[in-house]
Amino acid sequence: MAMRLWRAFLATATVLASGAPAAMAQSSVTPMPARATRFADKPAIAFGTAWYPEQWPESRWDADLAWMKEAGFNTVRIAEFAWSTMEPREGEFHFEWLDRAIAAARRHGIMVVLGTPTAAPPAWLTQKYPDVLRVDEDGTRATHGGRRQFSFASQRYRDFARRIATKMAQRYGNNPDIVGWQIDNEIGPPSFGKEAISRWHAFLKERYGSIDNLNQRWATEYWSQHYNDFDQIPLHATGQQNPALLLDFKHFTTATWTDYVMNQASAIRAHADPRQFITTNTMFWNGGFDHFKLHRGLDLAAWDNYIQDADPDWVANGADHDLVRGYKQRNFWLMETQAGRVDWVPVNRALKPGQVREMGWQAIAHGADAILYWELRPARNGQETYYGTVLGQDGTPAPIFDEIAKLGSEIRKASDALADTNPVYRMAMLFSYDSRWAIDLQRLHKDFDPIDEFTDFYRPFRNGSQGVAVLSPSADLSAYPLVVAPALNVMTQEEADHLSAYVRAGGNLVLGPRSGMKDDADALWPERQPGPLQPLLGARVEQFYALDEPVQLAGDFGEGEASIWAEWLKPQSKDVRIRARYADPGGWLDGKPAIVSRKVGKGSITYIGAWLEPAAMRDVAQQLMDDAGVRPMIPNVPEGVEIGERSGAGKHILIAINHGDSPKPVAIPANALPVAGEVANDMLRGHGVAVFRVPAGN
Ligand code: GLA
Repeated sequence: MAMRLWRAFLATATVLASGAPAAMAQSSVTPMPARATRFADKPAIAFGTAWYPEQWPESRWDADLAWMKEAGFNTVRIAEFAWSTMEPREGEFHFEWLDRAIAAARRHGIMVVLGTPTAAPPAWLTQKYPDVLRVDEDGTRATHGGRRQFSFASQRYRDFARRIATKMAQRYGNNPDIVGWQIDNEIGPPSFGKEAISRWHAFLKERYGSIDNLNQRWATEYWSQHYNDFDQIPLHATGQQNPALLLDFKHFTTATWTDYVMNQASAIRAHADPRQFITTNTMFWNGGFDHFKLHRGLDLAAWDNYIQDADPDWVANGADHDLVRGYKQRNFWLMETQAGRVDWVPVNRALKPGQVREMGWQAIAHGADAILYWELRPARNGQETYYGTVLGQDGTPAPIFDEIAKLGSEIRKASDALADTNPVYRMAMLFSYDSRWAIDLQRLHKDFDPIDEFTDFYRPFRNGSQGVAVLSPSADLSAYPLVVAPALNVMTQEEADHLSAYVRAGGNLVLGPRSGMKDDADALWPERQPGPLQPLLGARVEQFYALDEPVQLAGDFGEGEASIWAEWLKPQSKDVRIRARYADPGGWLDGKPAIVSRKVGKGSITYIGAWLEPAAMRDVAQQLMDDAGVRPMIPNVPEGVEIGERSGAGKHILIAINHGDSPKPVAIPANALPVAGEVANDMLRGHGVAVFRVPAGN
């Protein structure tokens, strides 16, 4: 299966890289093509900005749009946050201004994404119906004046939200200038008021069926936590609560946000041209809900990529792009990214010259079919007047304008080459929200941050393979010769069966430390780690240790160090190969196995029991990639240079990015045809980008 498909990868990259057909079949929406929109006459790659016409005199709109054209923009996102302009009083709707703004965009050849305005409820709503306001965990009700002050559980709020979304969809659902919809804006903060509590009880009833079942799964005899009735169960997100309750709180926020979003999505779907996509914009590594689940009913994923300290860890940033693409296994929209600096960290430094363009190309390399800046120009007042923008408050270009315009013209040139292409993946990694949450709830070592651990694993695999799909543990893995799950702490029996089937069919599975410890109610598996995969591994974790000092280890990968976490592995089957051992004189781990592998038919399972230091992680990753036959497109790429590939529709595109300050050599295939960017004598300048079309046969 997998391996055969893998060999044919480049020839059929679109099929493979567009993700699992099975995952698409689960969804009821029409699959999106590998391009920005479903409209055949629209640009394949969207490039644009957030635009808030309601904040400016109408006489200024044409000049703004003309500058957008000059920047190479073909897209605007409008109307999000404009509720008090669209419905200034309850039931009184004013859309004429929006009609005119859309028409003005059309005159300039700019397509439109409409945002529903529900992240910013108007004062008439929150004053007359204060019950729609969010309640914090400490019981404080939110007040008017900011945004996201609504309760995700309020039925009244949902009714108002549905009404404005319906009105918008009735008016614009068949307007060919509207290519898609964004629901709300960066959903996230939960609520703990009365309605949230009753939804919580209903959620638990649905999940567990009976209170006896919940008591048993949560092990509530512990500390006398037994419940006689669902109504007794408190709603908490933090504090000295049973971690089972806290993990279910995350399942609850996932379910509640999902139907909050679907309430508006279904209203829009009822009136909209099926070619208009529906999405919502999410945030960097946001752990507020399970993004794989929330996206099931949406057409595509979109996210907001900000480099807060303006010092991009480009590998970590790439990991988040890959995660977002994994939500739907489909190309995504970068709905917002910074035109220079943010305004919400202690020192809001600007990105260096060249980095805005570089981050744009990185997004495309990882599967973005759209890049939109936030925002065109600063509002004259309000919370975000200091933000980095494309134009100044006077409506003329800011210094970043030229760099953005350069990217715009490159994207226009590269658009045909990029159309209908997907990122090329040579292996996969698994990201599990349940595992992340379960570890965060009980870290044991304060520095065991699951995102950092995921990134430390991702780094050498991404650098070594130049293409890592990030998927949920239940995704179809059959296209990938190597699948790495850095800390799959929560593992259901179903997931274990799915992973076993992958290995038995010839796949190579690698588990990281803390894997296979808990079930999805956060209870320990009765077996030692990796729990339900212990029989397949033929080994178990004898004990785990939080480390305050690094421990040495050596094996067939070489030698190196582990820190933060190390597990003593114990083979149980004779055919288990010990690949590394600790050296810890006088300590518990001395001489104990640290990494083990076992062949299973044509596949294999490997367990890495420690969080390895970068050099050891790189060597181990290289060995695992060699074992599985994973090879990059361009070998021996220098540190700081990223290679991305997209393929499909008979095309193969290579994107090389130098994320460093100084020139670096890159061996571009001799017959590659330049599409955009610059490379001279196989040298890529600091923060330089080069895009090539690679003829078949490479
Ligand atoms: C988010 C929001 C935008 C803006 C930016 C600023 O991404 O969606 O409205 O506030 O943050 O970082």
